[in-house]
Amino acid sequence: MILSGILTFSSVFFIVFEGVTSLRDVKLLVEPSIVIKGGTAALICSRDMQGAPLYSVKWYRGNHEFFRYTPMEHPDTMVFGLPGIYVDMNRSNGTQVMLRHLELGLSGNFSCEVTADSPSFATQITTKYIDVIALPTTLPVLVTDKDRYQPGATLRANCTSPPARPAANLTVFINEEPIRASETSLQPFENGLLTAKVNVEVKVTPELFPGGRLRVACYATVFDVYNQSAKLDFLTPETDPRPERITLGGGTSKCVLNWFLLLLLIFLPMMVMGDDYGLLSDDFLDIPFTYYDEESEQKAIISLVGG
Ligand SMILES: *[C@@H]1O[C@H](CO)[C@@H](O)[C@H](O)[C@H]1NC(C)=O
Ligand SMILES: *[C@@H]1O[C@H](CO)[C@@H](O)[C@H](O)[C@H]1NC(C)=O
Ligand SMILES: *[C@@H]1O[C@H](CO)[C@@H](O)[C@H](O)[C@H]1NC(C)=O
Ligand SMILES: *[C@@H]1O[C@H](CO)[C@@H](O)[C@H](O)[C@H]1NC(C)=O
Ligand SMILES: *[C@@H]1O[C@H](CO)[C@@H](O)[C@H](O)[C@H]1NC(C)=O
Ligand SMILES: *[C@@H]1O[C@H](CO)[C@@H](O)[C@H](O)[C@H]1NC(C)=O
Repeated sequence: MILSGILTFSSVFFIVFEGVTSLRDVKLLVEPSIVIKGGTAALICSRDMQGAPLYSVKWYRGNHEFFRYTPMEHPDTMVFGLPGIYVDMNRSNGTQVMLRHLELGLSGNFSCEVTADSPSFATQITTKYIDVIALPTTLPVLVTDKDRYQPGATLRANCTSPPARPAANLTVFINEEPIRASETSLQPFENGLLTAKVNVEVKVTPELFPGGRLRVACYATVFDVYNQSAKLDFLTPETDPRPERITLGGGTSKCVLNWFLLLLLIFLPMMVMGDDYGLLSDDFLDIPFTYYDEESEQKAIISLVGG
């Protein structure tokens, strides 16, 4: 009795043990690593089968299976409808599943479970938390308390970046120098989105006008996928073509831009000759970079508006 019990136990143990050695290193990789609302992500399930044949790969969000690959069956892929999960069947197979139109609510634990075929039927599962982020849908907005500043005055500015999750990081620059800002205030919006705002105070000195121009810039960034700015230029009285405050980059309305271009035409000869006159900076060549496509931005806007 006892002996056979031990035998049974050891054979079970042997099978389990062999199972473990025939399948290892099940890993879940998300590409791109930062998943943007409305966008697409590939979930890649890598493993070392140790030569064992594959029986199945199952994909879960939480406890719910949404995709299965079984190479010995026809069809070899199967999708289980789960709200909010859109599997691109053309680009999903035994290694990866491609998800489209990812929404914020889909953030959660995703798992891939690999099972080897007989005799071992060894199974390993790995889980990863996937966070879907929402980028700001409009440019940051920079405002100052005045339109012009004399040396000795105090320049006060606020910079606000619209709702995002996580909130954008804000950095304010005076000319090329980042300056100390207040603590970022975060204001909750729907769906866990946050509006970010900082304010700064700077004592205005003549040194802040190299080449006759003081530039205040505010950069809103989210990891390395979003980087947008708003800029305001203030000119010293000697170089004073009105208005003294010129909006560049973020928030430039067409009307202001046209007027600015007109001014540019008038002052062009001056500027071409001047060394760093400042008006014609590299801003016009400075193409803001984002990695999200127009489609996802549109969607983001729609969902912000439509709730
Ligand atoms: C998948 O491929 C088929 C045939 O090539 C095509 O008709 C279909 O539109 C594709 N589906 C997607 C979601 O790309
Ligand atoms: C699975 O699909 C991806 C994307 O279409 C492709 O790059 C990969 O080679 C495929 N893998 C297998 C095992 O078919
Ligand atoms: C994801 O898994 C971790 C670790 O198992 C768990 O602590 C966490 O609560 C899970 N999150 C959700 C949203 O289920
Ligand atoms: C900046 O924000 C604070 C608090 O919301 C407000 O009192 C102040 O007037 C703002 N300053 C400017 C220059 O808009
Ligand atoms: C904001 O900056 C901090 C510090 O550099 C960084 O750890 C964090 O990931 C950034 N957050 C975002 C949303 O970019
Ligand atoms: C954002 O872009 C500016 C230049 O356009 C660069 O100087 C800055 O380092 C960038 N910030 C981040 C966080 O990538």
